[in-house]
Amino acid sequence: MKRAFHFKNNVLHCEDVNLQQFSQNRATPYYLYSEAQIIENCQAVLDAGKDVDFLPCYALKANYNPAILKLVRQMGFGADVVSGGELEFALKAGFPANKIVFAGVGKTEAEIELAIRTGMHSLNIESIEEYYLVHQVAARMKKPLRIAFRINPDIEAHTHDYITTGRHLNKFGMPLSDAIKLYEHAANEYYLLPVGVHVHIGSQILKAKPFLEAAQYLRQVVEQLRAKGLEISTLDLGGGIGIDYEDDFQKAEAELPIKTVLPQYLHALKDLNVKLVVELGRSIIGNAGILVSRVLYRKQTPLKHFVIVDAAMNNLIRPSLYQAYHSIVPFILQDVPKQKVDVVGPVCESGDFLAKDRMLPVMERGDLLAVGGAGAYGQALASNYNLRPLIPEYLVSGDEVKTIYKGQSIEDIANQYEW
Ligand code: LLP
Repeated sequence: MKRAFHFKNNVLHCEDVNLQQFSQNRATPYYLYSEAQIIENCQAVLDAGKDVDFLPCYALKANYNPAILKLVRQMGFGADVVSGGELEFALKAGFPANKIVFAGVGKTEAEIELAIRTGMHSLNIESIEEYYLVHQVAARMKKPLRIAFRINPDIEAHTHDYITTGRHLNKFGMPLSDAIKLYEHAANEYYLLPVGVHVHIGSQILKAKPFLEAAQYLRQVVEQLRAKGLEISTLDLGGGIGIDYEDDFQKAEAELPIKTVLPQYLHALKDLNVKLVVELGRSIIGNAGILVSRVLYRKQTPLKHFVIVDAAMNNLIRPSLYQAYHSIVPFILQDVPKQKVDVVGPVCESGDFLAKDRMLPVMERGDLLAVGGAGAYGQALASNYNLRPLIPEYLVSGDEVKTIYKGQSIEDIANQYEW
């Protein structure tokens, strides 16, 4: 397959759209996604699970634009939600309730009620107190609910501290011993239907090893539960498969860990005869989106060269929050010298940067650039800081471009307040 984002005659294209042309007379910054790349990612996941009992879910937290949700749903995916809001978006986008899983350490009573009303695939319980509340609400509503227990496996995922989740020092999940006690309790309750357990070890994991450790751990858990005569029909394996943030769209082939790592994780558990659920966010939408920005100014201090662009940390917070690396590519490849620069935005924070000490071709006022790997946790984490409106989102399919979010105006924001 031709790469979704690629250079043709030295100009950046998304599928069959010349992005330099598309951006003429168009306001920047904006997000732009490739439908073909989303489909390729979904297909890779479906292929990985083709000979297992499999429910691939899309983690809405990565990007909840309804056009993206509908596309992923049409590929046969279910949804992984972490709030009542995400649950409502998933239902509105047409995901069948029996393909929705709901995790989260702090579900409110109202969210639990909503979950019970939908008849979802399973609600993942993360603490003893939550368990008793869920039990009480289901009994009050007289409607049984399928549940799973999120276990904290204490596995080191070797990723950024802020996005590792499966260690005992993280707030997620519960110790195995608690989960087993609650599982036994639930097995005797009419309104709770325990179907299995859930783990999620972290995010942006590029190697198979931590997942294989998780698989090993889950195997023991299944054996322990079965030895106690408890039925287990589902293992929710979480998400966390990473993407190549260094991809500058110039390699012939992109690296896709979902094609290499995910099959190993699934196959390590195939013989247990349970349904395997995955909750993938970044690996579905991350490499399918770019953030497009324009150079406003250049400036030099005695120590640094700055390229000041019109996108900022309020649009893409990952570099500021996690020191995350995102490739940055000019729209037009030219034979010009390179320079070590900080690419920064207009927000009034020294932490507002998209790249630090990056060797980039010399750019000028008005030049366009793309920030790669921006499809996941980009727009989803955006804010109005410095009263900067949220920016538009476009979806490319072949030679067509659809506006899938029109962006905010200052007036839209002003109208949410009492004046
Ligand atoms: N399932 C659970 C229970 C999760 O907590 C997460 C992500 C996922 C699935 C999806 O993980 P993914 O496949 O996207 O790695 N904002 C951070 C990432 C936070 C991830 C939170 N949980 C970032 O930009 O790197």
